[in-house]
Amino acid sequence: MSPSLRSLRTALRIPATEIADEAVWRQRRRLLAGLGALPALGLSGCAEAEPPPPAREPPGREEVAAGFSTDEALTREADVTSYNNFYEFGTGKADPSRAAKTLRTSPWHVEVSGECAKPGRVSFDDLLRGFLPEERVYRLRCVEGWSMVIPWLGVPLAQVLRRFEPTSKAKFVAFTTLADREQMPGLRYRSIDWPYREGLRIDEAMHPLTLLATGLYGKPLPQQNGAPLRLVVPWKYGFKSIKSIVAIRFVERMPPTAWNDLQPREYGFFANVNPAVDHPRWSQASERRISGSEGRLFADRIPTRPFNGYAEQVAGLYAGMDLRRWY
Ligand code: MTE
Repeated sequence: MSPSLRSLRTALRIPATEIADEAVWRQRRRLLAGLGALPALGLSGCAEAEPPPPAREPPGREEVAAGFSTDEALTREADVTSYNNFYEFGTGKADPSRAAKTLRTSPWHVEVSGECAKPGRVSFDDLLRGFLPEERVYRLRCVEGWSMVIPWLGVPLAQVLRRFEPTSKAKFVAFTTLADREQMPGLRYRSIDWPYREGLRIDEAMHPLTLLATGLYGKPLPQQNGAPLRLVVPWKYGFKSIKSIVAIRFVERMPPTAWNDLQPREYGFFANVNPAVDHPRWSQASERRISGSEGRLFADRIPTRPFNGYAEQVAGLYAGMDLRRWY
């Protein structure tokens, strides 16, 4: 199968034998519509009754090898969307799913600036125009010691960034979340120096694993998960995966970031998952995987892996760096 057909099939979870099946075709249109990709492809939506989603296809060997998928059990959608960190909507895990309903995700614009040939303020649709969403099943490891396995939909960040033609001076990329007191009740509290800010080195931003996510579980991102678009950097602690992005800036120097500003000894700029470097207040050697069957949020502890299990794909980015110092 050609790589493009394979990635389309993967993105839409269509078994090869069912490419022409009508139910699958409808499912595919629903997915694309949900992601705002229909205008990009010059198609229009339809309002037919929806068939149930097809059963999940086991990941192919190349997808697992590239880190794009895993055969570990998925965290239930109900848990992915109700156990969240999104401090703009409160610091409790259940706060965002209740409070983030006030976040207006359309229209949405992103300001792209700094060291690039084509800066500008672009709409969500223009930012993603022409790109086909891909499914990526990634582990998410929070610095707090819990983890999930989430089927995201999105576009490799590299593809989107290239559109703005970063110059050779673009050594880092800085990201900013919306900060609107009207929509985000958590901004009343100075838990963080708002707006929430994060950053990546340019090679990390351009790595094929780094995803600009627009959906999960085959649907558009819910507000509490960072709608309409967020980063997912699976080998780093979850706080690097900044939500509801409104600004992207190419910069020459390492940008200040929200958690690092607040507590540099506890939250490094690189924040690569590392079981050998404890958080000053707790061990990072293991994690509680939220794989939850009904009524039981956490499964047992499992060992945490270097780079969250993505060492094969990303360890080379840090060759020669002291990973204890640059946590
Ligand atoms: N982005 C913003 N803007 N605000 C936040 O509070 N929390 C981070 C990250 N992105 C956060 C954020 C943390 S600590 C984690 S673990 C992940 O989002 C959680 O993502 P999830 O709620 O979708 O699981």
